[in-house]
Amino acid sequence: MWVEKYRPKRIDDVVDQEEVVNSIKNIIKDPDEMPHLLFAGPAGVGKTTIALCLARELLGENWRDNTLELNASDERGINMVREKVKMFARFTSMQNIPFKIIILDEADEMTADAQTALRRVMEDYSRTTRFILICNYLSQIIEPIQSRCVIFKFKALEKDDVIKHLAKICENEGVKYDKKALEEIYEFTEGDLRHSINILQAAANLGHVNSSNVKKVIGVSDKKRVKDIISLALSGKFSEARNKLVELLRIHGISERDFLKLANEELQEINEPKLLAALAEYDYRLAIGAHPDIQLAALLAEFARIGKEIRFDTSKYNKK
Ligand SMILES: Nc1ncnc2c1ncn2[C@@H]1O[C@H](COP(=O)(O)OP(=O)(O)OP(=O)(O)O)[C@@H](O)[C@H]1O
Ligand SMILES: [Mg+2]
Repeated sequence: MWVEKYRPKRIDDVVDQEEVVNSIKNIIKDPDEMPHLLFAGPAGVGKTTIALCLARELLGENWRDNTLELNASDERGINMVREKVKMFARFTSMQNIPFKIIILDEADEMTADAQTALRRVMEDYSRTTRFILICNYLSQIIEPIQSRCVIFKFKALEKDDVIKHLAKICENEGVKYDKKALEEIYEFTEGDLRHSINILQAAANLGHVNSSNVKKVIGVSDKKRVKDIISLALSGKFSEARNKLVELLRIHGISERDFLKLANEELQEINEPKLLAALAEYDYRLAIGAHPDIQLAALLAEFARIGKEIRFDTSKYNKK
């Protein structure tokens, strides 16, 4: 996987995120003063990467032994976190390091109660460990944790930098590419470098990175977009769902009928008769020539209503 192969090992190789990178360099210069850190920002922009670079540069060659990577959205939740932290923090390191580092990814997936317990854990072990919490949405992190951390806000990456980075990978891999195709990848992924590199690699597998191959690859993930729209609708986020739908139809150019087809595939997985019945009804309305925009918006509203009625569990669905 190119995403892993091209994950920067050193902070100097990170693309963009200048503000974050500069502050991290200051921490590396004076590690004893390092507070707990909280990284927030969109997917695929370097949060985990920078956390790992920091651990590597602070802790030296044995960094692996002294870094614990956890995922907070793991089913076993806060108890698992507490146990693992306890085990990890128990043994004082023989190596000459200022502290051990615990990277806790997807901290915003924890409930407020779990976060309160996490705060206790952070305090209990603060003499020997430092936490780097990672989240997508800062607003989902409880205030007492926010106030105990220094917060770093990550941004979506800049167009020119993404394109330069993708071009460099192509050159390194000996893959032919068109600049226009790289621009199309950027437009589609909106500054998510992980997603960009994945599309790049998939397009390269089809021969070379040109517009037509990029389109083929992006077409595949229309399914994922439809899934996201359904998920938003079912969790009651009607306007967000409708905006994404409009984007899918206008920008990504899929047809209303294709949307219904993909939605039908998605609903087979959810297997809820009420949703299938709603879909069939709107499929019929479109077939007899009703106004597509209005009908699809109404379909999403209907999904939102049903989602509430059946108490749809979005977080479980999103992980599938
Ligand atoms: N700023 C960056 N500089 C260089 N490479 C990057 C950067 N951001 C992302 N990448 C590439 O994308 C991959 C994923 O990045 P990373 O794991 O850091 O994302 P993230 O911000 O933690 O995303 P998520 O919120 O989804 O966990 C990396 O392996 C690397 O190849
Ligand atoms: Mg990450």
